[in-house]
Amino acid sequence: MKRLVVVISGRGSNLGAMLAAIRRHAWPIEIVNVISNQPLAEGLALARTAGLRTTVIDHAHFTDRAHFDAALADEIDRAAPDLIALAGFMRILTSEFCLRFAGRLVNIHPSLLPAFKGMHTHRQALHAGVTIHGCTVHMVTTDLDHGPIIAQGIVPVKATDDADQLAERVLEMEHQLYPMAIAALLSGRVSFADGRRHESGPGQFPCEYSPWLLHPDL
Ligand code: GAR
Repeated sequence: MKRLVVVISGRGSNLGAMLAAIRRHAWPIEIVNVISNQPLAEGLALARTAGLRTTVIDHAHFTDRAHFDAALADEIDRAAPDLIALAGFMRILTSEFCLRFAGRLVNIHPSLLPAFKGMHTHRQALHAGVTIHGCTVHMVTTDLDHGPIIAQGIVPVKATDDADQLAERVLEMEHQLYPMAIAALLSGRVSFADGRRHESGPGQFPCEYSPWLLHPDL
């Protein structure tokens, strides 16, 4: 069994998509802890309903970022994960944290990186007038919203879209992309050497992998 820790701050729909995909495909992946920095995160309720272990590390109880990150890192280490997935975790991590888990830490970001880093990515995309938008699963490095790309999901921007409508279609794509990327990494089907993505063999368990997915509207 591969051990996965999921770190959230809110709704947890990507966590839900991971759980569903793990069950549907019978991947040998166990979510060993769901950690939230927000005590009232909806994703915690989802995790508890699914019978998962949950931990709250409330950032408001820490004097600074370094102490919060150290507590988060210690909790993650206790779970001895093969991979740590940030899924809507809305805090900037210190370089120390990123380096401690280098190669085992992944994130999903709601844009086609390197475009539209940071917050309000759908608004940024509409403002820029792009016709193609989407989401990216990437390895986490010490640079915010940056790091080797595992997979991207491509979503068309419609002339009539507002930020919420666009966000909804990107989220549908996130729910397909993130579980696939996690399974590909944990199976060994995708790996990184010198910052470059390598696809190798069938992996330790069967899973589909594509470096990009297209939204059905395209
Ligand atoms: C997702 O859209 C995810 O891409 C985004 O937060 C949302 C979380 O939704 N993450 C970031 O913006 C990270 N910079 P969820 O809690 O329902 O999975």
